[in-house]
Amino acid sequence: MAEDLIIQKGTKQEQYLSLIPQIKALLEGEPDLVANLANIAGALKEQFNWFWVGFYLVKGEQLVLGPFQGPVACTRINKGRGVCGTSWAKAETLIVPDVEKFPGHIACSSLSKSEIVVPLIKNGIVWGVLDVDSEILNHFDETDKIFLEQIVAGIKS
Ligand code: SME
Repeated sequence: MAEDLIIQKGTKQEQYLSLIPQIKALLEGEPDLVANLANIAGALKEQFNWFWVGFYLVKGEQLVLGPFQGPVACTRINKGRGVCGTSWAKAETLIVPDVEKFPGHIACSSLSKSEIVVPLIKNGIVWGVLDVDSEILNHFDETDKIFLEQIVAGIKS
């Protein structure tokens, strides 16, 4: 496996279409979850240069910080709290164009302005979330939802 990522310029869709097969190749044959989550966070950060991208994993009644790229972040989030905890409780992707308008948003950084959270689901049970934060308002849309859901569907817990 080559460890060098080919960075694609162009539309958001073109960037995802170039990145997804590379992420698949990175995960192929590697059973270790932490290694795979770390490489996905690294690949997404390298391609999109988002402010923060990473995983929280369900441990008991909380989400606990997992592999990520970006500034240090809150370590534990309760079910139903913030964007991540709400995505967990609803088992659905949440796109938040303006975090200040999301009731209960947890501000790990005041620089974060918009966010998308995608749940990791196995057999109908949420076992973690992928969280992406941007310093730009309204940064995420349906294209991100479709492709990020496709990326997390390829993660074996
Ligand atoms: N803003 C998130 C918390 C996690 S950090 O952004 C990394 C939330 O409201 O759940």
